Amino acid sequence: MGVRELKPNIYSVGAVDWDRRLFDELVPLPDGTSYNAYLVKGSEKTALIDTVDPPMADVLVRNLEELELKDIDYVIANHAEQDHSGSLPRILEVYPGAKVVCTPKCKSMLMDLLLIPEDKFLTVADGETLSLGNKTLEFIHAPWVHWPETMLTYLREDKVIFTCDFLGSHLATSDLFVIDEATVYEAAKRYYAEIMMPFRTTIRKNMEKIKDLAIAIIAPSHGPAYNKPDFILDAYRDWTSDDVKNEVIVPYISMHGSTKKMVDYFVEALIERGITVRQFNLSETDIGKLAMALVDAATVVIGSPTVLVGPHPKVVYAAYLANALRPKLKFASIIGSYGWGGRMVEQLSGMIPNLKVEILDPVVIKGVPKEEDFKALDRLADEIADKHKEYGILN
Ligand code: FEO
Repeated sequence: MGVRELKPNIYSVGAVDWDRRLFDELVPLPDGTSYNAYLVKGSEKTALIDTVDPPMADVLVRNLEELELKDIDYVIANHAEQDHSGSLPRILEVYPGAKVVCTPKCKSMLMDLLLIPEDKFLTVADGETLSLGNKTLEFIHAPWVHWPETMLTYLREDKVIFTCDFLGSHLATSDLFVIDEATVYEAAKRYYAEIMMPFRTTIRKNMEKIKDLAIAIIAPSHGPAYNKPDFILDAYRDWTSDDVKNEVIVPYISMHGSTKKMVDYFVEALIERGITVRQFNLSETDIGKLAMALVDAATVVIGSPTVLVGPHPKVVYAAYLANALRPKLKFASIIGSYGWGGRMVEQLSGMIPNLKVEILDPVVIKGVPKEEDFKALDRLADEIADKHKEYGILN
């Protein structure tokens, strides 16, 4: 993508990665992503805000050449992760007079990760400003969105806030600003679920920090920019709140069909009781979709057969991820079938200490489900419905 103007003298100069399908060798990117960088030209100084993933460095350099800059005075590094910082060494080669502006913690990380010499840095305190002449950059330390060194950069005169990962979305698009709200909402929620959800409480604090700023444009470093800031701020307020929805998430695996029979019956029983259900077959599910479902749900019920005396390894993987993502679930349970015994429930419950949930009595049965097993599933569905009613999310 070439240079695009956000506002006079503020340009988007980053790269769109249409074909990338995996991030951190873990996170699915069904819609690609972008590494946004922004160039701000003041009357006296010029600042580049963030860079791009190293394989895309040529795009950034070409875009900057197109702007025919005499020099770049500052490169603002809001975040040390390499998809934004990785092209810093190349930029410092092309623009040797540039100083890297970042938090003290970011400086030490960039020295470790990219071997940038110490004399290249200008560290900034929380609330510190930097004048570009007729434009002023204000730096807002915002740790843990999603690394400890992160900051936001607010361009006062233009009311633009550059948020790097925070409020972003993994979405490759030719739209500079959000046009298709439904698509961006989905991508931003997926991004929140996969990257930001473990830091929900800290994010709320950081949202507080920016709540009194006049913001006309939010310019993240992934996905399109927001010229209606409330669209994404309202979504984050919702996702980071303590409120849960009348939803049960059922991630499951079945090897010979018994656990599947239980899941099918149980899902119907929940629906009959007025509960929204999202069912995920872990042998083929997009783990990002599961993460998104966990953003709002009140309850998770994991379905697993017993393999080698414990849960199925794909269930272990999902439980590990769910535990790491720390969703705001309130209730959890386990259903499944075994052939000759095992410690599936004990092992699985021990894998989710971060989930501050009430564990409801599991239904784990021998072989295929029989009449009394279906009754036990009905009892579990009743208990979940009662809990959701007590919580005020089911009428
Ligand atoms: Fe987009 Fe945390 O890097």
